[in-house]
Amino acid sequence: MTVRPLDLVRAAIRRMQGYVPGEQPQDKRYIKLNSNENPYPPSPRVTAALRRAIGDDLRLYPDPLADRLRDQAAAVYGLTREQILVGNGSDELLTMLMRTFVGAGDRVAYPVPTYSLYDALVAMQEGEAVRIPFPADFSLPPQLADTDAKLIFLCHPHAPSGTLPPLSTVETIAQRTRGILVIDEAYIDFAHETALPLLHKYPHVILLRSFSKSFSLAGLRIGLAFAHPSLIQELLKVKDSYNVNRLSLIAASAALEDYAWMRRNVDKIRATRGRLTQALRELGYFVYDSQANFVLARKQGINQQPIYRGLKERGILVRYFSSPELYDCLRITVGTDEQIDQLLASLKQLIS
Ligand SMILES: Cc1ncc(COP(=O)(O)O)c(C=O)c1O
Repeated sequence: MTVRPLDLVRAAIRRMQGYVPGEQPQDKRYIKLNSNENPYPPSPRVTAALRRAIGDDLRLYPDPLADRLRDQAAAVYGLTREQILVGNGSDELLTMLMRTFVGAGDRVAYPVPTYSLYDALVAMQEGEAVRIPFPADFSLPPQLADTDAKLIFLCHPHAPSGTLPPLSTVETIAQRTRGILVIDEAYIDFAHETALPLLHKYPHVILLRSFSKSFSLAGLRIGLAFAHPSLIQELLKVKDSYNVNRLSLIAASAALEDYAWMRRNVDKIRATRGRLTQALRELGYFVYDSQANFVLARKQGINQQPIYRGLKERGILVRYFSSPELYDCLRITVGTDEQIDQLLASLKQLIS
C-alpha cells in the first residue's frame, strides 16, 4: 500500500501560504535595514551574564514559568507577576493567543496592511480573518470594533507605517469591542506613549512586548504578554513546557537591569529617525511620521522594487513589499548615523 503523506496534511495547512520573514542573508554582510533590528549591541551586562551562565547548569531545564524575569518585569512595568507571561519572542505569544481564543470559524479582525504573521496564524487555526483596510493616512478604522471578532489585533505603533494612533482612539476600540483587544507593542519603546494604562482599565485588553527591538536581543527571542491574571492562567495551558531557554532568560533579566542602556540606544535611534525622515522627504518621498525604529517611505505610484534591488547590489538591505498597497514604498530600519549616511548616498545615486 502506498502512503501519500501530503494527503495527510490538514487541508488548512495545505491551503495556506506560510509566513515569509524578511531576508536574513547568511552569505555576505549587508548594511541590514530590513528587519527592524537594533543597530547597537545589547548592554554589556547581558554579554557578561551570558558568559557566566555558560557552564554546568546548561544541562538543567530552565524555569518553566520564568518567575525571576516576571518579577523583574512586574517591578519595571508596574504590574504583578500574575499579569505577565514570557514567550519565545512575541511571535510565540501571538501563537499562544491564537491557540487559546481562536477555533475553526472564529473571527479575528485587524486593520491591513499589518504584520503579516497574523494572517498565517489565523489560517493555522482555521479562523476567519476580517481584514479591514486602513485609510491612506493609516488612521485607525473605527469599524474595527464592530466586527464581532473574538480577537482584534492592533500594532501599536503600526507596522509597516510606524504611525501611532492617539490613545483615545485605541481606548474607543477597547470600549466598543466585545472581543479581546491585543495591542502589539513590539516597537513601543521608540514611541511617546504606551497603551499600558488601558490594561488597568479593561480586563479584555492584552499587551505584547518584545526584547528584539529596543533591547537589541532579536537573536535570543524574548517577548512578554501583559494581561489579566485569569487570562494569563489560560494562556499558560497552551504554552510549551520550557518555552524560553536558560540563556535567553538570563539575557532578558540582565537587559532589564540595565534599562538605561536601552533608553540611551532608543534616544540615538529616535534622533537618527528624525534625520532620515527629513532626508527622505528632501529626496521626494512621502514619509509617514514614525514612532517606531523604521520609516515607511512612499513614491506615489512608482514601483520601488528597482530601488530595493539597486540598494541590495550596493550592499544595503531594506524591505520591499510587492503587494498592491505597498509596492510604491520602502520600509527602512533606522540604523546608525553612518549606515543611514551610506543608505542616503546610495539612494541619491539610484534616483538620479
Ligand atoms: C508588529 C510585530 N509584532 C511582533 C513581532 C515579533 O517580534 P519578536 O521578535 O519578539 O517575535 C514583530 C517582528 O518584527 C513585529 O513587527
